[in-house]
Amino acid sequence: MLRTDGDPELLDFDPVTRFLHWLTLFLVAVIFLLAFSIDFASSKEEAVALIHLHRSFGVTVWVVTLGRLVWRQFARFPNWPADMPQAMRHAAQWSEYSLYALLLTQPILGLLHTDAHGDRVNLFFLGHLPALIGRHRPLAKQLLEVHEAVGLLFLGLIALHASAALYHHFWRRDGTLEAMLPQGMRRRVTLCESRSLRPR
Ligand code: HEM
Ligand code: HEM
Repeated sequence: MLRTDGDPELLDFDPVTRFLHWLTLFLVAVIFLLAFSIDFASSKEEAVALIHLHRSFGVTVWVVTLGRLVWRQFARFPNWPADMPQAMRHAAQWSEYSLYALLLTQPILGLLHTDAHGDRVNLFFLGHLPALIGRHRPLAKQLLEVHEAVGLLFLGLIALHASAALYHHFWRRDGTLEAMLPQGMRRRVTLCESRSLRPR
């Protein structure tokens, strides 16, 4: 595990972790925008381009998430705020693990749907990825239903996660959001010198 166990000075996530976090948010926002724009495309060509971009950004976020998980093994994280109840720490940890799980499974579902539908992923119009499974239309239909349902679940969890971050920032004022914000965006009014010494 990577939680800091004994460095009360460490208040922030390291720059790489912060960069990958906000890059993920950007990619996921683009992915959802593209997904929901497909139905409003003015021509078939535009719809196809939007689907290709949706798939390409989806594959990208999967790779970025793998990178994030590898980096996580070497990074050192700040401690929880000292006054954060144990139940809240567990809730934060499990919701964040669930986000990682969705970041890894959702692109695979999309990829398998695409292959089963008989299409191929044209990665940013640069070339096609090899198919993982063969064409199977009934399976493709089921995979798309799951992909759409997981998409909604994902949106719900992101909303919960972002609300929790804002609750920490505006209500508890415990420095949780500042720890993840880029350097220039910090306005650390309440320095949490008292972050717990216990591992997260
Ligand atoms: C985190 C990554 C992803 C998220 C959050 C996501 C989300 C979504 C959502 C919400 C929809 C439904 C759109 C609607 O209801 O109109 C959708 C559709 C779709 N997704 Fe993804 N997706 C991701 C990755 C991928 C990947 C990697 C692929 C393929 C390689 C893919 C392929 C598709 C396809 C083919 C559709 C159906 C588009 C259509 O014909 O309307 N997705 N996705
Ligand atoms: C696509 C949207 C988002 C995803 C997928 C996401 C994912 C994650 C994940 C996986 C972590 C855990 C980091 C780790 O332990 O390795 C995390 C932490 C964090 N995120 Fe997000 N995040 C998203 C959006 C946001 C937004 C919009 C905010 C702020 C409003 C935010 C604020 C934070 C904060 C403050 C932490 C650190 C929490 C802690 O101390 O444990 N995130 N995020």
